[in-house]
Amino acid sequence: MASGQLSRVEALACSGCRHACHVMLYCDTETQLFGRIPIRHIILMQMRFDGLLGFPGGLVNPQEETLEAGLSRELLEEMGVALPISVEDHVDACYAPASTPSPSSRLITHFYVRKMDEEQIREAEIAAASTATDHGLEVLGMVRVPLYTTKGGGLASFLSHSFIGNARSQLLNSLLRLNLVAPEELHKALTHSLKIHT
Ligand code: GTP
Ligand code: MN
Ligand code: MN
Ligand code: MN
Ligand code: MN
Ligand code: MN
Repeated sequence: MASGQLSRVEALACSGCRHACHVMLYCDTETQLFGRIPIRHIILMQMRFDGLLGFPGGLVNPQEETLEAGLSRELLEEMGVALPISVEDHVDACYAPASTPSPSSRLITHFYVRKMDEEQIREAEIAAASTATDHGLEVLGMVRVPLYTTKGGGLASFLSHSFIGNARSQLLNSLLRLNLVAPEELHKALTHSLKIHT
């Protein structure tokens, strides 16, 4: 575990902390963009009410529910699907930078990754845009992450958008760790993303 990161157990030992849990839901796919560019994986993120990109999930009070039950509740609110998340899906946790409104109760953000079937991902996308109670409110829509590079951009353009908290790092770390994008391709996309709108 990298420095500054906490295990699930270490994080829960902080009695005064607030906790937020978010998850990267993804699957493999054979689909090709324009019938020739393999999209390889579907990774779900969301456009939040505040105009920032982030992962589905939210605040959980461990006094009232387990982290995983709270995350499942948030997925039901935000995506309209009852999806059990387990302790094994927990990747890491870290302190969010202290915010001025509540400097005393620090926020710990937990990150989970869950691999699904393509069918489940497609069902979740449909539910998120129809039956989810938060649709059009706290969540403006689910978005897929383009993992390819086209003449116009692709992954580089996606990475140049604004993200909530450290969601962008959570995405990048997962792409590398799960080998969803080759390191040299990711490096190129990152370099290009920094040159966009500056
Ligand atoms: P409410 O129901 O309005 O409370 O929203 P919520 O419970 O869905 O909470 P939200 O998803 O906004 O997450 C709570 C906090 O966690 C946010 O204010 C951010 O600071 C942080 N956060 C949100 N999304 C992400 C994410 O994808 N990654 C990380 N690291 N932090 C996030
Ligand atoms: Mn077209
Ligand atoms: Mn929510
Ligand atoms: Mn949320
Ligand atoms: Mn909430
Ligand atoms: Mn809410």
